[in-house]
Amino acid sequence: MSGPLILAIESSCDETGIALVEGGRRIHANVVASQVAMHAATGGIVPEVAARAHLRWILPVLDEAMATAGVTIADVDAVAVTHGPGLAGSLLLEGHLYAAWLLDPGRDEAPEPLFPLVALIVSGGHTFLVEMRDHLDYRLLGQTVDDAAGEAFDKVGRLLGLGYPGGPAIQKAAEAARHHDAVFPRAWLGDTLDFSFSGLKTAARRIVDGARADEGLGVDPVERLPDARVADLAWGFQDSVTDVLVTKTIRAARAAGARSIVLGGGVAANGALRARLSEEAEPLGTPVVIPRPGLCTDNGAMIGAAAARRYAAGERAGLDLDARPSLPLARR
Ligand code: KG4
Repeated sequence: MSGPLILAIESSCDETGIALVEGGRRIHANVVASQVAMHAATGGIVPEVAARAHLRWILPVLDEAMATAGVTIADVDAVAVTHGPGLAGSLLLEGHLYAAWLLDPGRDEAPEPLFPLVALIVSGGHTFLVEMRDHLDYRLLGQTVDDAAGEAFDKVGRLLGLGYPGGPAIQKAAEAARHHDAVFPRAWLGDTLDFSFSGLKTAARRIVDGARADEGLGVDPVERLPDARVADLAWGFQDSVTDVLVTKTIRAARAAGARSIVLGGGVAANGALRARLSEEAEPLGTPVVIPRPGLCTDNGAMIGAAAARRYAAGERAGLDLDARPSLPLARR
């Protein structure tokens, strides 16, 4: 073993994830039971329902993780749980950052992010640009002033009749687009590194209503727009979000003299965003580190990666540890 073996538990949102991670990088097991299908029925997460599902799943997920890793509890050096910060229900920011250090089984080496780095964390609850000069050393460069990027994907997915979660569905629809000329607005917020997506959502409603009127459809969402039209609109929306996210991340990386750019959070699973960020970072010569999609959405392994750094720094908690939605992580 190189470094402590951490049993990491992530259950702060709608996934029950348990992982065994060695030395903050090497994944021995990473089991995720997702409630996404269950929440699709209600169009979003109902906290009480989510909590009951975690109770039902946590022991089977634990057993599977231990069996996959081939270890017993006696082999485990520390147990880590997500307890903050963020909004209640999405307490995962640091985990999403540290997903960039993870190595899948069988992958012995992959370049480690280098400091200073700039990270864009985009999920259903977060849109953060963060600078890290060292481990556990965060400076907040910018954040959303209203909706999170993932929230915008989910809301516009619903508007387009694509269901929940909207992100993967919009990406899939956009891949089928034949006209790449749908223009959705971009909120630049001057020279700041902050983001705003609520105007985009309102504009999307107006654009979708216009398209429906064009097609002779009423307001009843049961009558869906033709797939070709949905595809073009999905592309236009996705292009607007990725344009703003990538432009600001590159600007921040230049200003910080970043040696790596990290992308994380559920929206980092988006193919167009991944491709565009890599493309625009190339002239800077700054490597972009993006976990594979399964490590971008909520999982236990990323909590194990973050926990290893806190464990090394001597941090310990008792069994009275409680969730702290407003735990400060980064300050401006
Ligand atoms: O990090 P995550 O699993 O959970 C939290 O919100 O903490 O992120 C979920 C979010 C959802 O809003 C979902 O629509 C979005 O990530 N997402 C995507 C994609 N896959 C997931 N957004 C755009 N493109 C995707 N491929």
